[in-house]
Amino acid sequence: MHIHGGDIYTYQNMLDFSANINPLGLPASVVQAAAKAAAESAVYPDPMCRELKAALADYWQVPAKNIVCGNGAADIIFQLALAALPKRALLIAPGFHEYEQALRAVGCEIEYFYLTEEDGFCLTEKYLSALHDGLDMLFICNPNNPTGLAVPRELLLAVLEKCRSLNIRMVVDECFNEFLDAPQDYTLLPELAANPHLFILKAFTKIYAMPGLRLGYGFCASAGLLAQMSAVCQPWSVSVPAQAAGVAALKEQEYVEKARALVSAERARLLTGLSVLGCQTYGSMANYIFFKSRPGLAEACREHQLLLRDCSNYVSLCEGYYRCAVKMPQENDRLLAVLSQVLAD
Ligand SMILES: Cc1ncc(COP(=O)(O)O)c(C=O)c1O
Repeated sequence: MHIHGGDIYTYQNMLDFSANINPLGLPASVVQAAAKAAAESAVYPDPMCRELKAALADYWQVPAKNIVCGNGAADIIFQLALAALPKRALLIAPGFHEYEQALRAVGCEIEYFYLTEEDGFCLTEKYLSALHDGLDMLFICNPNNPTGLAVPRELLLAVLEKCRSLNIRMVVDECFNEFLDAPQDYTLLPELAANPHLFILKAFTKIYAMPGLRLGYGFCASAGLLAQMSAVCQPWSVSVPAQAAGVAALKEQEYVEKARALVSAERARLLTGLSVLGCQTYGSMANYIFFKSRPGLAEACREHQLLLRDCSNYVSLCEGYYRCAVKMPQENDRLLAVLSQVLAD
């Protein structure tokens, strides 16, 4: 099994900087809604997630018929692969592992576009020349995991246009969009209606700090693809508590704004702190920071009860690359103190 961040079951009682979720934790209203729904779980969940889709439609101003819900964004990625059965897909490396796993599970061949250190791990116009008519699907994570860098809108629009002409399904993973300082400048949501080849992947997981409840969703204007996804997925993938938690979470606008401001300030402080300690950073725009330092740092931090995401198992990365979450101020202080001690050894 691929090793992700957040493995608090192997490494217990540690300060976890390896999972990148909202440092404010679950909103109280979401906990209440999920607990109440757990008590009402002697019935099957609505397989069509009607109340949740209506709430999402209202929140994002997208027709409910263009929304699909799933057991986390990861479930939607697997549904997509199974429904579309792409033969050849383009992934960006380094990138989130589940795209590759889902594509390989349906026998899809994978091509990689490699982000380079020289380009500061930014996606540039060079990506456009990697698109060709032999591709059926591509994934762009915006902002990207693990780098935390967002793709400028102009480049995304050029990719969208090229995908239309080459008949490539374009999947844009916006699971971390809400943590950007200006989310509206990066989302492709305004392009959804006119581009049935576009699929936007979203999750409650990161922004509402609810990875344990499992709730993801997607937007797509292709009725055909959505029907195909519903034909291949299992019927009750979103539990009663997860559906109720999602409806409650969408009312938490102040919480989202508070998280964005907190993450923005703490990210800036951590970026400076990491640079002062001699770590190479790349200007993350998200709620996690990608950096380069000496090999063995994650093991050394574990001795201090602190978990970092060792990024050496990402395609195209090697030892010495790490990702840390942006957490609460005192926790971030602890991270810098531990790193300072470990790097001085
Ligand atoms: C970029 C990205 N997309 C999707 C997911 C999956 O999210 P979920 O927990 O909702 O399945 C993750 C989880 O780490 C992620 O990093």
